[in-house]
Amino acid sequence: MAPGAALTWELADGVAVVTFDLKGEPVNKISAAVKQDLLATFEALEHDTAVRAVAFFSGKPENFIAGADIEEFVRLTTAAEAERLSAEGQEMLGRVARFPKPIAVGIHGACLGGGLEFALACGYRVASDHPRTQLGLPEVQLGILPGAGGCQRLPRLIGARAALDIILAGKVENARKAFRLGIVDELVHPAILKDVTIAAAQRMAGGWRPRRKRPGGFRGWLLDGNPLGRRLVFRAARKQVLAQTRGNYPAPLAALEAVEHGLTHGMAEGLKREAQLFGQLAVTDVSRKLVQIFFATTALKKDFGIANPPPPAVVSRLGVVGAGFMGSGIAGTAIAQAGVDVRMKDADLPRVAKGLAAAREILDDRLKRRRITPYEHARLVALLSGSDHYTGFGRAELVIEAVFEDLQVKQQVLREVETATARDAVFASNTSTIPIHRIAEAASRPEQVVGMHFFSPVARMPLLEVIPSARTAAPVVSTAVGFGRRMGKTAIVVKDSPGFWINRILTPYMNEAGYLLVEGVAIEEIDRLMVEFGFPVGPITLMDEVGMDVGEKVVGVMYEAFGERFAPVPAFAGMVKSGRLGRKAGKGFYKYAGGKKGSVDPAVYEVIGAHPNGGPRPAEIIQRLVLVMLNEAARGVGEGIVRTPRDGDIGAIFGFGFPSFRGGPLRHADDLGAARIVSELERLAERYGARFAPSDVLRDQAHHNAKFYPNA
Ligand code: 3HC
Repeated sequence: MAPGAALTWELADGVAVVTFDLKGEPVNKISAAVKQDLLATFEALEHDTAVRAVAFFSGKPENFIAGADIEEFVRLTTAAEAERLSAEGQEMLGRVARFPKPIAVGIHGACLGGGLEFALACGYRVASDHPRTQLGLPEVQLGILPGAGGCQRLPRLIGARAALDIILAGKVENARKAFRLGIVDELVHPAILKDVTIAAAQRMAGGWRPRRKRPGGFRGWLLDGNPLGRRLVFRAARKQVLAQTRGNYPAPLAALEAVEHGLTHGMAEGLKREAQLFGQLAVTDVSRKLVQIFFATTALKKDFGIANPPPPAVVSRLGVVGAGFMGSGIAGTAIAQAGVDVRMKDADLPRVAKGLAAAREILDDRLKRRRITPYEHARLVALLSGSDHYTGFGRAELVIEAVFEDLQVKQQVLREVETATARDAVFASNTSTIPIHRIAEAASRPEQVVGMHFFSPVARMPLLEVIPSARTAAPVVSTAVGFGRRMGKTAIVVKDSPGFWINRILTPYMNEAGYLLVEGVAIEEIDRLMVEFGFPVGPITLMDEVGMDVGEKVVGVMYEAFGERFAPVPAFAGMVKSGRLGRKAGKGFYKYAGGKKGSVDPAVYEVIGAHPNGGPRPAEIIQRLVLVMLNEAARGVGEGIVRTPRDGDIGAIFGFGFPSFRGGPLRHADDLGAARIVSELERLAERYGARFAPSDVLRDQAHHNAKFYPNA
């Protein structure tokens, strides 16, 4: 082997056991150097007559191959270069697929993108039945497509429908699901992965060939095994992609084309088209933005948000006070993701029972979606318990309160928890707006108090804001961030200031929607325009989701702290008074029936005292909603609410779905340019009031031609 080579091999009974271990890197990835190494290794194996078959493994304990080296393709500047890169990858895997001796791969850990494409080019795939073993083609999440033959080999292996389902959404599946789909031929315990794979290689060397069922059975053949059925499949998929991406993300449509082209015109033509489309996508602005988000999220996985972070405390028992929607969401998610013992507490037993049932639903849902086995489900359910007093809290290393958003109530809970817990237990408040130092005023151990702001519904929303006060001890911050991460959240550490980051920038946006309503813009129109801009839902729907009572409280706190520009829109007050709290009340701006959102409730216009008559033109509506948010975000950065623009952007994308193809509010501000934003804000301020007055941060940037990301 060449010095520093990533691949090594040894011969055992005629089988070359190849190990891929990229030295000095936490994951195996396929770079240009690795490609050379792979080609050289396979050439040697081909010519070595003692080698009758190949068994291929990763030398990393926790991952197989994480895909092509992302850093390599983001450096490319032209579509032609990127197309060449894809074609070279295809050519290499073509050699693997045509290799004259059988190859079996033993997969343990992440097998993603180019990693899966490699495995697909091999003759037999064995996977370990371990939660870490994940297989998928996440390329479209990076704004590209599987460009090393994945758009061709996966549909041929498992059928067009199943393959599109994975490729177009950039899905990653666990080993069991991959086995059910036919991506993996054999599923085994990790302890015997190596032996089983080598045995398969040996069997193949003896002439045995795996027999695979026709993908999808007869129904599968009807739909994607013939041209007519296939056309239907592609038409339906295209419609779905357009509905989901609204033309903002080019990768899924391109991937669809690559798959269709290959199935219609054959493998060689398909590969050619795949490489061309890969080339075009790799240099788009959308792909650049999505890759930046990948690296930002990866960096956040190791960032505890403070300098020299001490190690987090080991949390094995969690106390949750408040068994409402948030409390039960936190409890259920903590068990499902972190496998900790959870004790819930609320004022009376009926509430506790309701909370326990809601927390259990999260576990039931995982079972239903086959994320966990019935055995694991039973084990996890047994970790959940509750009471109307604090028994069991004495052993909790961390307690999260999720009671009503009211300073006195939260302080009272804090006092009770302090008497019920050990001295070194951490008390975390799931407050959305009330500063932590205010809550901690009631504490006898203020250094143990921190904020952990989760988003609703907790099981699905990926963001956590961690808020230390000036007195919070460093290990407490690490513990909150570390535990949030174990719950599967991306955590950003934000400054202890009213509304923190998310509500700080969301409130002016929601309020602006209220002003627009009063000016006669229809509810659907506001929501439609923001969805077109790229948000998953519009601001009015978001208000219904959050709850008008919650929103009213948030605005109240923000108004008190920051004054006039946060003044609540009077129209919204009627909503709470009339019980139109949103989805949870079954009525808000929209109608809700059986948990499903219906049409706008026309009666709501009476309540808010407004009538749709058109209002400002669409471009003006979009500008008002977006710029008011960007302006506040800039102000927040200036005040150090987030530590870096990166945290601010990831927070907005993960916290409320700021369009990721725009890179987040601060990257979007950079794209627009501070000078342009300032002049638009000045115009809006003149027309609609001082709430649009440009922030000093933007004025400064405009003056110095500066940006949030100077090196981008
Ligand atoms: N390229 C470059 N770097 C990568 C990488 C990749 N494909 N995958 C992971 N890394 C890096 C990370 O940036 C991180 O770097 P750092 O230590 O310098 O910060 C390091 O590897 C470790 O990664 P994580 O911290 O994310 O480790 P985890 O164990 O938490 O997760 C993982 C591992 C599940 C593999 C996760 O890293 C991941 O999802 N990686 C990306 C997978 C992906 O998108 N693959 C497709 C690539 S594109 C492709 O293959 C194109 C092809 O079709 C031609």
